[in-house]
Amino acid sequence: MTTVLITGANRGIGLEFVKQYAGEGARVHACCRAPEKAGDLKAVKGDVVVHKLDVSDFDAVKALGIEIDEPLDLVIANAGAGGKDVGDFGALDYDAFSRLLAVNTLAPVATLEAFAPHLKKAKGKFAAISSILGSISNAGGFAQAYSTSKAGLNMALKAYAPLFADTGVAFALFHPGWVRTDMGGPEAAVAVTDSVAGLRRQIEKMKAGAPLRLVDYQGNEIGW
Ligand SMILES: NC(=O)c1ccc[n+]([C@@H]2O[C@H](COP(=O)([O-])OP(=O)(O)OC[C@H]3O[C@@H](n4cnc5c(N)ncnc54)[C@H](OP(=O)(O)O)[C@@H]3O)[C@@H](O)[C@H]2O)c1
Repeated sequence: MTTVLITGANRGIGLEFVKQYAGEGARVHACCRAPEKAGDLKAVKGDVVVHKLDVSDFDAVKALGIEIDEPLDLVIANAGAGGKDVGDFGALDYDAFSRLLAVNTLAPVATLEAFAPHLKKAKGKFAAISSILGSISNAGGFAQAYSTSKAGLNMALKAYAPLFADTGVAFALFHPGWVRTDMGGPEAAVAVTDSVAGLRRQIEKMKAGAPLRLVDYQGNEIGW
């Protein structure tokens, strides 16, 4: 049996990951900020354990790492924020910018730190949901705060993954496509079911010791 942990599991890409993994019989630890409001998540059939977790509460992330006492085959650091409240250059809200960095950049590192023992026990996989907007070589001069946060995530994983050499743990960064979720909006090109099905195929291919790559849901490599 595969055991998977997913953050930001109550809607969007995270919820679809829960549905697809639980649907094929995996045991899923589904983390979300407000389980009491997570009706869609709680309706998912299968072996789904819902945990209350705000990923920017790093003590809570660490505590969940202690609470969950079983090896994890896959951890998906999916929770993310768009950063609209950061505002425009000239009137940036640095408290909002700091909160964005906490969720998109630091929380995946905290998640990796908290669940490193579980991943090592299972020789599991750590998948972080990044974005093509975090690619410095593709940077287009818009969504600056969000792009900065995802570039930071990419660098953080590149910097910390080598600490796991010879542990059997595999790492990858994924761009899910422009996906029809609350974040992607109704005009987005990709259905969430297709994005997650594609991401799962890419996760299947992850290998310990392989160079870290930023890859989209169809397997196309994106430059740093
Ligand atoms: N959709 C796209 O086109 C697209 C493109 C590139 C990358 N991505 C990335 O894909 C991931 C999922 O995005 P999505 O499209 O599914 O977005 P979404 O529909 O807006 O969902 C975002 C998820 O992250 C959770 N979240 C935000 N802040 C959190 C926090 N502090 N603690 C715990 N959970 C938190 C949300 O929980 P609440 O309900 O509690 O807010 C929600 O479950 C994100 O990392 C995003 O950056 C998305």
